[in-house]
Amino acid sequence: MGRFTKIVAGVFGMTLLLSGCAMDSLGDPVDASPEPGQENTLGTITAGVLTVCSEIPFEPFEYEDPADPEKYTGFDIDIVGEIATRLGLELVVVDSDFDALQSGLSLATDKCDLGASAMTITEDRRANIDFTDAYYDSLQSLLVAKDSGITSLDDLAGKSIGVQKGTTGEIYAEQNQPEGAQIVGYPSDGELWPALQAGQIQAILQDQPVNVIHARTDAAYVVVAEYQTDESYGMALAKDKNPELLAAVNGALAEMRADGTYKQIYDKYFA
Ligand code: ARG
Repeated sequence: MGRFTKIVAGVFGMTLLLSGCAMDSLGDPVDASPEPGQENTLGTITAGVLTVCSEIPFEPFEYEDPADPEKYTGFDIDIVGEIATRLGLELVVVDSDFDALQSGLSLATDKCDLGASAMTITEDRRANIDFTDAYYDSLQSLLVAKDSGITSLDDLAGKSIGVQKGTTGEIYAEQNQPEGAQIVGYPSDGELWPALQAGQIQAILQDQPVNVIHARTDAAYVVVAEYQTDESYGMALAKDKNPELLAAVNGALAEMRADGTYKQIYDKYFA
């Protein structure tokens, strides 16, 4: 989608300003569009723009694509791009610190309208965040060097387990590590994966789809264990701040599920 989406979003935005109504690709009115004559009804931090925070890279959900004029791509980016289009907003993606995003801080301080960062919906996070409906189901996993002989967490006694700070993978590692293991936190998978490849850590415990991509990229690494943590990703909004935007995003998501757009995007990354 890339540039095309952005241009389409821009055109929708103009249409909204001029006529106060938008249509989807089938020519039906978009439910979530602003009322006639009212500007920025969805109360985004910048009128006409959906500013989305995401911690990048976390392939296949969000990662850099040198060929893409907008720089970022991935499952989450495509989903929010489509949501922005349906809401008549232009998408702007801001690469942000995951820990500050999952704590609710980046949202509370108006850095972005929405967090789309493969973020698991948890009760703890709900204290500071309003989550959209779930849009992806996930699990945890353990990635190690093929020749390491490590096949489970228990083999990591006396070794180090790398995690991304502030993630559910970090929590899982803390709760299930064997005695004598060391947990090393990194700000991003962008540091975590090179650290494993350089032998600075002996394993990465994180979301399974991301570890699977690493094992696919470099045959010297393998996912040896999966943990059924029953996680679901949601998009994040500042707590109790913008119920209209929350409802609009959920509405767009539901539409995308109903008309096959969600499945199309899903298949592009996971089929
Ligand atoms: N799903 C995990 C969590 O919510 C990890 C998410 C990390 N996302 C990212 N874009 N770096 O804690």
